[in-house]
Amino acid sequence: MILHRAPFVIHHFTTLRSTSDTLKSMSDAPAFTVVTADEQTAGRGRRDRSWYSPRGDGLYLSILLRPVAPVLSPSLISLLAAIAVAETIIDLGVREVDIKWPNDVLIDGRKVCGILAEGATSGNQSSCIVIGIGVNLNQRSFPEEIAEVATSLFLSTKETMDAARFRDHLLTNLARWYELWHSGADLRIIERWEELSSYAKHRQVRIETEGEEVVGETIGLAGSGALLVRMADGHVRSILAGQISHLR
Ligand code: BTN
Repeated sequence: MILHRAPFVIHHFTTLRSTSDTLKSMSDAPAFTVVTADEQTAGRGRRDRSWYSPRGDGLYLSILLRPVAPVLSPSLISLLAAIAVAETIIDLGVREVDIKWPNDVLIDGRKVCGILAEGATSGNQSSCIVIGIGVNLNQRSFPEEIAEVATSLFLSTKETMDAARFRDHLLTNLARWYELWHSGADLRIIERWEELSSYAKHRQVRIETEGEEVVGETIGLAGSGALLVRMADGHVRSILAGQISHLR
């Protein structure tokens, strides 16, 4: 089924292995092509993890973006996607929304949304990014392995959320932030992310990056979207990717 909604073209499926894999296989799809599914049988998360994707309980959405070159700060795209999700949840009246660096959205400290940004190759057009977004909407419970760390909108609001309604609201927010980024308003994105995330500043953290561990206090985001961490010896490290845990 193809639904039109400017500037998005939404392809909705009942079952897919992964909305991101399907979108990446549509090599010449135009910017703002969106793939959604009622369920994913092989939903993928960051760091080769799987994404729990039961039928009808979540939003499983991937969107194709084709930023106009040169892209100076690509990691801001995944930060702005997290801002868009967090604002969508806040707009629904949910409090205690947080962003765990770089782009996990939490309610009451538990993960309600994960975002996977991937570069994709395409025929004739250069830069192409697929943003995969999974939001736990109506789950009443979770499998044992993630029960302690996951939550859903339902568990917070006690109300069932219509996936299409959440999707449309999210896409509106995403389009607004993406346009701002395109117009060079990087600073607005950084400021908004810092406002929404308790991880941005004054947080003692441990970050596992490729082959090393950085421990220190967060002091904000750099212009590139990297997290700035001041270590015990006073040196400031700028970290673009890694797995964060907070110490207190
Ligand atoms: C994470 O590990 O936090 C990222 C999870 C991303 C899950 C979404 S669901 C829609 C899209 N399709 C996938 O296979 N993964 C992403």
